[in-house]
Amino acid sequence: MVIKSAVVPVAGYGTRLLPATKSQPKEMLPVARKPIVQYVVEELVSNGIQQILFVTGRSKASIENHFDHDPELFRALQEANKQDMLKEVDFEDLKANFFYTRQPHQKGLGDAVLHGENFAGEEPFLVALGDSILGLNAVSRAVSRMVEVFDSKRASCVIAVEEVPAQETRHYGIVQPEEAADGVFRIVNLVEKPLPGEAPSNLAIAGRYIFSPVIFDMIRRVEPDRRGEIQLTNAIQLMCDEGRRVMAVKLSPEEKRYDIGNFPSYFESFVEFALADPEYGEGFRKVLERLVAKSAVTA
Ligand code: G1P
Repeated sequence: MVIKSAVVPVAGYGTRLLPATKSQPKEMLPVARKPIVQYVVEELVSNGIQQILFVTGRSKASIENHFDHDPELFRALQEANKQDMLKEVDFEDLKANFFYTRQPHQKGLGDAVLHGENFAGEEPFLVALGDSILGLNAVSRAVSRMVEVFDSKRASCVIAVEEVPAQETRHYGIVQPEEAADGVFRIVNLVEKPLPGEAPSNLAIAGRYIFSPVIFDMIRRVEPDRRGEIQLTNAIQLMCDEGRRVMAVKLSPEEKRYDIGNFPSYFESFVEFALADPEYGEGFRKVLERLVAKSAVTA
C-alpha cells in the first residue's frame, strides 16, 4: 500500500516561542541551516508522500513562499554562478505538490485536520505536525513503518509514539497500550495531556498519524474542550470505543523527535543539528566547548 497525501497543520500561534513567533510562523524558525517545516517536508517525501496540504492561518504566508519558485533569487544566483545555492532553494526536485488552506479560527488540532477532508477524499492519509522533526536531519523511516502496520493490521489509525519522562506527560497525548508495549502494539485508550499520576503510560503521541477517512466523522462527534478546542486525541478515542483498530509504532532512539514547541527543545535541536553540520559542525563544536568552559568558570 502507498499513502500519497499528507495534511500538515501549521496554524498554531506559537505562543510558547514569543517574541520569535510574533510575525513569523514557528515552523519557519531555522534549525541550523533549514526552517523546521523544510525538514518535515523532506522526511515526508522520502517516505513516499507526493502531495502535502498545509493547514495554515494568518501570518503564515512565508511557508507558501518558501516552497515556491523565486524568479529574482533564481536569476541572481544564476548570474553569480552559485549552482550549489540554486539547488538548495529550488524544491522542484522534491516532486511534491503543495496545497494550502486556512483554518480561520484556532479551534484545535482536530478542527485543523478536518480542513483536510476534501483533500484526503476516500483515501487513507498522513497527518504530520509542522513543528516536529523526526530523526537527526529528518532521516527517519517511521512513516514507512506506520504505512506497513496500517496495511498489515487493517488499522483505522496508526500513531507514532515515543517514551517521555513521567513528569512530562502533561504536555502530550498519552496512549494506553493493550498489553506489553514493544515496537508495534494496539492502543485501547488515549488521554490528552494527563496530570502527573493520571497518565496511563509514558508513551506520548509523537506528531505523526495515519488515518482512514473515518476520522473525519469522529472529529465531528467530538465536543470542544473547556478552551473551545476540538482535540484530535478525543476523536481517536472514539475510534477505540467503536472497536476500531488503533495501532502504535514506537520510535527508535535514533528516531528521536525534535519537538520545537518551546525554547528548551528549540535550543537543543538547533545545537544538535549545527554540531552535525558537515561543513561547520566541527568548528562549532570547538566554539561550544570554549563557551561551556567559560560559562562554567563564571558560574
Ligand atoms: C498535540 C497533540 C498531542 C501530541 C502533541 C505532539 O499537542 O494534541 O496529543 O502529543 O501535539 O507534539 P500540542 O503540542 O499541539 O499542544
